[in-house]
Amino acid sequence: MFDYKEGIVSSLDGAIEALDADTIGEMLEIPPQREMGDYAFPTFTLAKVFRKSPNQIAAELKEQLGEVPAIEEIRVQGPYLNFFIDKDHLAREVLEDLRRRGEDFGKVDVGQNRQVVMEYSSPNIAKPFHIGHIRTTVIGDSLKRIYDYLGYNTVSINHLGDYGTQFGMMINAYLKWGDPEVIEKNPIPELVKLYVRINKEAEENPELLDESRNWFKRLEEQDEEAVALWQWFRDVSLKEFKRVYELLDIEFDSYRGESFYTDLMPEAVEEMKEKGILVESKGAQIVNLDEYKLPPAIIIKSDGSTIYLTRDIATALYRKKTYDFYKSVYVVASQQNLHFQQLFAILDKMGHEWVKDCEHVSFGMVSLKDGTLSTRRGKVVYLEDVLKRATDKVEEILIQREEETGKAVENRRALAQTVGIGAVKFQELFNQRIKDYVFDWDRTLSFDGETGPYVQYTHARIASLLEKGNFQVDGPIKIEELDQALAHEILAQLYGFHQVVVDAHEKNEPYFITRYIVETAKLFNKYYNSTPIITEDAEATNTRLFLSYGVKTLIKVGLSLLGIGAPEKM
Ligand code: ARG
Repeated sequence: MFDYKEGIVSSLDGAIEALDADTIGEMLEIPPQREMGDYAFPTFTLAKVFRKSPNQIAAELKEQLGEVPAIEEIRVQGPYLNFFIDKDHLAREVLEDLRRRGEDFGKVDVGQNRQVVMEYSSPNIAKPFHIGHIRTTVIGDSLKRIYDYLGYNTVSINHLGDYGTQFGMMINAYLKWGDPEVIEKNPIPELVKLYVRINKEAEENPELLDESRNWFKRLEEQDEEAVALWQWFRDVSLKEFKRVYELLDIEFDSYRGESFYTDLMPEAVEEMKEKGILVESKGAQIVNLDEYKLPPAIIIKSDGSTIYLTRDIATALYRKKTYDFYKSVYVVASQQNLHFQQLFAILDKMGHEWVKDCEHVSFGMVSLKDGTLSTRRGKVVYLEDVLKRATDKVEEILIQREEETGKAVENRRALAQTVGIGAVKFQELFNQRIKDYVFDWDRTLSFDGETGPYVQYTHARIASLLEKGNFQVDGPIKIEELDQALAHEILAQLYGFHQVVVDAHEKNEPYFITRYIVETAKLFNKYYNSTPIITEDAEATNTRLFLSYGVKTLIKVGLSLLGIGAPEKM
C-alpha cells in the first residue's frame, strides 16, 4: 500500500535542512481528531534553529512544501502543519489492497523468519489451573499469534512447574493416604487435598518432613519408584490442563517444564563458578548483584539444593543454545519482577550479551467482582469452570433468543463456546497488561459496549449484509460514493491496521489490537445507522459493501490475533 507518511516525511526532509528524515518521521504525529488531518507536524523544536515563532515557521513551511504526493490539503493550525490525505487516493489504495490480498491486507513481514521464544501459561502440576492463570495464558497466546502474523518464527513454550521439593511431600502423602482410583477420577483437587493434609500434619509431626525430604532426594537420584509417581502426577495434571487449552484453542510447541532443566543445572553452576561470580555466604552459594542495585541471589542453598532461579538460569542458557533466538519473551506475573531482574542481571554478569534480547512481559492481577463466585470444587476458582460458565451463560442467551424469534442457530453449543470464551479473552486483553483488573460477568458477556460479543456481532451482521446484497469482490466500484466523512474515517482506520499490529508487537501489548477492533466496529455501526447500504444503485451498493467487507475482514483478522473466533452467523 502507498505509504503516506513516507511521502510527507520525504517532502519535509527536502524542505528542512536542519533535520534528517528519521527525526522528522519521529516528530510526525497522528492528530487526536480526524478533523485535524491524518498527520500533523509540530514546529516547536525548529523555533530555536530558525529563531522564529513556531506559527511563523509552520506558515512558511507550507509555502515551501508546495505539493506533497497523495496529500490533498496542508493546513496551518498554529504551530502545526496538518496534512490531509487525498480521500480518493486512500479509497483506491485500501480497496485495491483488500481486493488483492483479502485477509492478508496490511500484513507486513517485520519478522523475516527470525526466531522468537514465547514462554507463557506455565502452571504448576498437581496444583489447580485457576482463574489467575488466565492472564499469562491468553496474553502469551495472543503475542505468539501477533509475532507469527508479522513473519517471526515463534516457539511457544509451556514452562510447567513440575519440579521442586514439594514433590517429595506429594509422593510421601500419596504413599500414606492416596488412592489411585480416587485421584484418576478427579486428579487435581485430590492431589491438592493430599498436599494440604501432609503440610498440616507435618506441623505436629515433623518426622513427615524428613521423610518427604528423603523422597525428594530419591526423586533427584532417579529412584524408579519416585520417578514413576512423579511422572504419574505430571501426566494426570497435564491431561487436565490440556482440556482447558483445548477449550481455549491454545497450543504449545513444547511442554518442557522445570524438571527438564535439572540435568542442565550443574553445567550452568559450573559456568558461574568459572566466571567467578559465585560466592559463599553462610554456607550457601550466591551471586552478588550490588552493581545492579538488586539484592543478592541464592543459587545453591546451604543444604546443597538448587532453586527456581537456578533452573531459570539453566533454562535461558539452553534456550539460547537451542533456538539462537532473536528475542526471548517470558509472560509472567509482576509478582516475579524481582526474580526476572535477578535472572537477567546474572546472565549479564556471566557476560551473555544476548540477555538484552530477553524480556519479562509482566502483568497485573485479576480479581473477581463476584467474590462469591465459588465453584463446585470449593474455594479456588478453576479456569475451566469459568470458561464453561461463560459458555453456559451465552447458551442461555441464545436459547432465550430462539424462543423470542422462533429462529434457531446452528451448532448452538459451539457458537456459545466461541462467543463465551471469546468474551472472556476479549475482556482479558482489553486493558494495558500491567493494570490490575476486575473480572465482571455482566460486562464481559454483554452484547453492547466494548466487548467481545459486540464485535463478533458486528462481524456477523456484516456477513449477512454481504450475503443479502450479493457482494462481489471483483464487482463494480463507484469511488465517489466513499467521498463522505464517515466513510473516509473508516478507510483511514482500515489503512492504519498494520501499524497497530506492529506497535502491539513492539510493546508486547495485545490491547492495541483489542481497542482497534472496538473502534472499527463502532465506526462501522455509526456508518450503518446513518447510511443505507443496500439500495437500487448496484454500483453504489457494491462500493458500500466493499467498505463493509473491509471492516469485516479486519475484525476477523484482529480477533484471530487475540485468539478469538469470528462467527459468520450469530
Ligand atoms: N510456574 C510458575 C508459576 O506458576 C511460572 C513460571 C514462570 N516462568 C519462568 N521461566 N520462571 O508461578
